[in-house]
Amino acid sequence: MTTPAIKAVIPAAGLGTRFLPATKAMPKEMLPVVDKPAIQYVVEEAVAAGIDDIVMIIGRNKNNLANHFDRVTELEHTLERKGDHGKLARVIEPSSLADIHFLRQGDPLGLGHAVLRARKHVGDDTFAVLLGDDLIDARDALLARMIEVSQAQSATVIALMEVDPSQIHLYGCADVEPTGEYDVVRVKGLVEKPSADEAPSNLAIIGRYVLRPGIFDVLERTAPGKGGEIQLTDALAELADDETIAGPVLGVVFSGRRYDTGDRLDYIKSNILLALDREDLGPDLKAFVQELAGSFD
Ligand code: UTP
Repeated sequence: MTTPAIKAVIPAAGLGTRFLPATKAMPKEMLPVVDKPAIQYVVEEAVAAGIDDIVMIIGRNKNNLANHFDRVTELEHTLERKGDHGKLARVIEPSSLADIHFLRQGDPLGLGHAVLRARKHVGDDTFAVLLGDDLIDARDALLARMIEVSQAQSATVIALMEVDPSQIHLYGCADVEPTGEYDVVRVKGLVEKPSADEAPSNLAIIGRYVLRPGIFDVLERTAPGKGGEIQLTDALAELADDETIAGPVLGVVFSGRRYDTGDRLDYIKSNILLALDREDLGPDLKAFVQELAGSFD
């Protein structure tokens, strides 16, 4: 699918408190999923959707992230001397994926605040936001579809996924109505982390957005919301209320594979599922999982 060239913003400045102490000296986006940090999967996804300019919003422990996407000549020379071309290619790959820029968030005042930091870099264009701890399986392209819908309808587009009603309090939640397209809904309203009783649906906002530059003015005036943070969901709710700001807000309903690596249990499951799919690790891991499952009987 061909998509117009847009820039991507990857916020990775959260405190990652659910993962302490692992995230004490390392951003959660650097936690390995099988053998790559989570954020490399996210960059690869952006690149697969046709994006070649990425700005990461980083916080404390920023060096880990920046170093991963940089060259490491000493290590490269050692691998070259040893003739280990497979590992050499894997070491170089992150630095050759895209043009990657880094911006400090300063205080972690919320996801909306992190996105606002990208205003100058993005300028007056539509842009994508990909959360650095939320992985979408490479076999289930979502972002390219969102960019296509945004382009066709001059719309802000968010990604939605059905979740069990008991889980909706963990997400932003959308009040929607159908459109003529099976995987696209019109978003009438949004509420951040509602209780199951208050939730207008079981459609949760997941970590992919295609935003129009009109959102920046809204973010500038968005007051801290749930958790005392400047919430991207609150700014999107204002856009959904008033189409004149940045066009309609549409949701692409995703039914593919998603891995939430910011949550400990989902992180462990993600590692198992992705390793099972790997040719080098899958067969041995499958035998181990089968044996383990048998031992519970
Ligand atoms: P989360 O809601 O997962 O928050 O952020 P968190 O603080 O990182 O994690 P916990 O809940 O304490 O474990 C969603 C995304 O927004 C980024 C995070 O890095 C993550 O990708 N974020 C959040 C920022 O970049 N800045 C912020 O101020 C808050």
